[in-house]
Amino acid sequence: MLVKDFSDCVGNTPVVRLDRFFDYSYSEVLAKLELMNPGGSVKDRPAKYIIEKLIESGKLIPNLHHVIESSSGNLAIALAMQCRRFNLQFTCVVDPKISPLNLKIIESLGANIDMVTEKDLNGGYLDTRINRVQHLEQHVPNGFWVNQYANPMNWQSHYDGEGEELIKQLSDPVDYLVMGVSTSGTLLGISRRLKEAYPKMKVVAVDAVGSVLFNNKPSPRELPGIGASRVPALLKTDEIDQVIHVDDYESALACRRLVTKEGILAGGSSGSALAAVQKLLAQQKTPCKILTLLPDRGERYLDMVYDNVWVESARQRHLSSLESSEVLKPTPPLPAELTQVQPEAISH
Ligand SMILES: Cc1ncc(COP(=O)(O)O)c(C=O)c1O
Repeated sequence: MLVKDFSDCVGNTPVVRLDRFFDYSYSEVLAKLELMNPGGSVKDRPAKYIIEKLIESGKLIPNLHHVIESSSGNLAIALAMQCRRFNLQFTCVVDPKISPLNLKIIESLGANIDMVTEKDLNGGYLDTRINRVQHLEQHVPNGFWVNQYANPMNWQSHYDGEGEELIKQLSDPVDYLVMGVSTSGTLLGISRRLKEAYPKMKVVAVDAVGSVLFNNKPSPRELPGIGASRVPALLKTDEIDQVIHVDDYESALACRRLVTKEGILAGGSSGSALAAVQKLLAQQKTPCKILTLLPDRGERYLDMVYDNVWVESARQRHLSSLESSEVLKPTPPLPAELTQVQPEAISH
C-alpha cells in the first residue's frame, strides 16, 4: 500500500474474534482493534477528523492558529501529530496522572505541555484542566480549544469512522455493543451508526469504578482513558441501556489474560472492556454476539497493568471497595482463574 500522507493510515482497523480469551464460548465476542491506529489509539480518529474539518471550514488556519486541549495522553498524542501536519502550534493541558512516557512522546511531537497540579472537588483533575484550558484560550494569541468533551465532531468522527467501517465488516447484527466511556464520543458515535442497521442492539457503557459519569461517588482510580471526574456535555445516558463498572484490578487481570490467551498487549481500558464483557456474559442465558473495542496499545501501561507492584495495590483497593461499596455488591464473583495474577503474564 502506498499512501501520500501518514495520516491516511488512520482507521480501517481490523475486527478480531477473541475465541481463546472467552474459552470458545458459544457466544461470539468481536473486538475492533483501534490500538492499530498509527498514533497507537482510537483518539487518532477525532484528532484527524476535527482538525481536518476545522481547516476545511476556515475556523483553523495552518501556520496561524494555536490549538489547545486537555487530554490524559492519547488525544494529545493524536492532536500533536495532526498539528505537525498543518504546522499549527499545540498546547496540551495535562495532569500528574499522565505517564512520563506519554509526556515524552507529546513533547517529542513538538507540543507544549501545561501541567495542572491541583485536584478538583471530585478528587480528579478534570475541572482544573478545563479551567486552565479556558484561561489559555483567552490569553494565547489565536488560541483554539478543540473541546473533546463537548464538541459534536468528536462523536461524529466515530460515527463516520469505526461506525461506517463496522457496517461493512460485520456480517450479522450484534446483540450488544460494549465500550469504555470517557468523553462518550466513541460509544455514542459507533452506537448511533450501528443502531441504524441493528435497531435491537443493546448499548452497554463500561465505566471505571470511582468515575462520576453515571452518578456514582468519586473514589481513587488510576487507569487513564476510561471514566471521568465530571460529566461531559456529549454524554446522553438515555442512549445507553446498561452500565457496567470495572475497577483497575479487574481491568489489569483482563489485560493479562488478553496477553496470555491472544498475545495482544493492550492498554488498561481494553481490559476494562473485556472484564465488562465477562460480567455481561455471566448474565446471559442464551448465546449472543458482542462487539467491543480495544482503544489503545499496552506499551504505555508497562508501569501499570503489566507491573506486579501496581496490580497488587489495585488489588488492595479492589478488596476494600468490595467490603464497603453498595454498588459493587451485586457484581458476580470473578472467575477463579482471574483472582490470581497469572505467572506466565508479563511482569517487571
Ligand atoms: C484509552 C482510551 N481512549 C479512548 C476511549 C474512548 O473514550 P471516549 O469516551 O472519550 O471516546 C477509551 C475508552 O475506554 C479509552 O480507554
